[in-house]
Amino acid sequence: MRKYLSVLLAASVSLGAGSVTAGNAQDVADLKEYFMKKFPGVEIASLKDGAYALDESLYMQFENVEEFPPWEDFAAKGEELYNKPFANGKTFASCFGDDVTKIRAKYPYWNSELKTVVTLEGDINKCRTDNGEKPFKGKRGSLAHVSGYIASQARGQIINVVVPDEPEAIAAYEAGKKFFYAKRGQLNLSCADCHVYQAGMNVRSELLSPTVGHVSHFPVWRRKWELADKKNNDGLGTLHRRYGGCNKQVRARPFKNQGEEYRNLEFFHTSMSNGLEWNGPAYRK
Ligand code: HEC
Repeated sequence: MRKYLSVLLAASVSLGAGSVTAGNAQDVADLKEYFMKKFPGVEIASLKDGAYALDESLYMQFENVEEFPPWEDFAAKGEELYNKPFANGKTFASCFGDDVTKIRAKYPYWNSELKTVVTLEGDINKCRTDNGEKPFKGKRGSLAHVSGYIASQARGQIINVVVPDEPEAIAAYEAGKKFFYAKRGQLNLSCADCHVYQAGMNVRSELLSPTVGHVSHFPVWRRKWELADKKNNDGLGTLHRRYGGCNKQVRARPFKNQGEEYRNLEFFHTSMSNGLEWNGPAYRK
């Protein structure tokens, strides 16, 4: 583990100087290699199913749930919202184009004009406000439904986040990476402590998932969230909702939903799954 840490540090040092697209590719390759060694016999592509890919009996439970996916009705609500005209008569298609299967895989991306990372959830709400509607609130409910519908239409497509060779894009990627490897909270743990170095280990009753494959299935349907929502039993939530939960686990304060920190994190984090399939929404504990 020590050895890997120094490899990572060395990689990030050379990153600053060299071409960044290569740096992004190198980071993905390094992590995949690390997990291949850590989990011999587990195919990297199968990590799209998170911790379930690491344990056969958990995987069977997961497959059972996915046979009648609990998220389906909520993605269907998202489809209705997607096609329902705004007050001005337009629909989401006026922002996203006619082919709904072509949306999910475009995000997150670096917008060279706005000089910022743009997320799917951010653009769903931008489409609403551009058309005179109020944005959807929070990290669940209608926002997660529409995002879930869009994700469901892109299953099987390949994740490919590009970091363009522009100083600000590189800086955003580096900020996301730094966030991921930085220790924080009262427990003084980084994302990487749990999801790289301790991946495959148990924390209480939970098997820690590896970073590669982490984002493929968002918005995620969590049983925990389903049970917490006594009114609608709606378990769908966005990636930033999950980020907030994982920040709280180490007793750190969560950052702002769709704020710059989480958007940069999403940019780095999603690109670590480059080459894997989009397969959202999906069930998790
Ligand atoms: C104390 C350990 C710990 C730390 C630190 C931690 N997490 Fe987690 N995380 C968990 C546990 C436990 C789960 C649920 C089991 C699993 O899927 O790994 C989880 C789940 C996740 C998931 C969902 C995986 C899936 O398959 O749905 C994501 C994404 C995630 N964490 C991201 C992060 C990020 C980003 C950070 C840093 C901000 C972070 N985590 C920090 C413990 C941690």
